[in-house]
Amino acid sequence: MNELRNTQIEFKRIGASLGAEVSGIDLAEPLDEATFDALVQAHGEHEVLIFRDQDITTEQQKAFGRRFGKLTVHPFAPSDGDAPELIVFDNNADNPPWGTDIWHSDETFRAEPPMGTMLRALIVPDVGGDTMFTSMSAAFEGLSDRLQNFISGLEAVHDFKPFRQLFSGDTEGRRSLRDFEERYPPAVHPVVRLHPVTGKKVLFVNPQFTVAIQGMEESESRGLLDQLFRQAMVPEYQIRHQWRPNTLVFWDNRAVQHYAIHDYYPQRRRMERVTIKGDRPVGVEVEENSASVKSQKSNRTAGDKAQHGAHKPINVGETEGA
Ligand SMILES: [Fe+2]
Repeated sequence: MNELRNTQIEFKRIGASLGAEVSGIDLAEPLDEATFDALVQAHGEHEVLIFRDQDITTEQQKAFGRRFGKLTVHPFAPSDGDAPELIVFDNNADNPPWGTDIWHSDETFRAEPPMGTMLRALIVPDVGGDTMFTSMSAAFEGLSDRLQNFISGLEAVHDFKPFRQLFSGDTEGRRSLRDFEERYPPAVHPVVRLHPVTGKKVLFVNPQFTVAIQGMEESESRGLLDQLFRQAMVPEYQIRHQWRPNTLVFWDNRAVQHYAIHDYYPQRRRMERVTIKGDRPVGVEVEENSASVKSQKSNRTAGDKAQHGAHKPINVGETEGA
């Protein structure tokens, strides 16, 4: 029997650019189709969904994740042989947090990066351990039309570079690294991707994994990437999420970057994560001349953009009053 237990679902927006708290749902229960459809739409629209007071088991978290797609195994995270799809972050005085206090989207070094990640808090520190999220659709929207046009159609190289230091320098370590390099060669993704649910354009580069822009000199590539990485750091595009035990956050890995704040050591923080398989990112169409590119966008005016809190493009005529 198809019981409709979750029909009271509600979404409360928490940030101007992204984020919603979800109420009226019990993640221990199977989802009916209507609720599932509402969650898929809301996940695209809000980019980060926060479920509070969900006293569920690891198996129930996995079942919730599987509703949205196949669970994937992180190539470099230590995982249980019996449950390789589950990542446990149990950080404490003997196990300091590592490698997540940098802006990133998860696993973009893969040809098909995850569509989403579900992270659930079990034990949280008294103070600290928040996670920051930033909307990369808002970040794209905040760029000038000139820069949006310039980066549309570019492609960037993503590499698992931070994980290279996990391999020892001895023969065995080098051989193991070569194996991983063969299995996970650098991935090439569009710098601006089209979101498959919302149709929004998303800036898809991140400082943890994106190493170069194709077809540019190294200094040009470095300069442009630094510029684009800074877009993730603009507070207007962000929310700061404070965990409580039994909070589950399901973020859209296609649309956001996140940063796990490492300010709680040596307190304990225990989290469990499952990751949902994604598709190969699709870029935006670029016409031959920039006027056509511009016409693909919605009919926003400069005034609309200013209301969005975007940084106003430099306009020499205006600033000099000429
Ligand atoms: Fe992450």
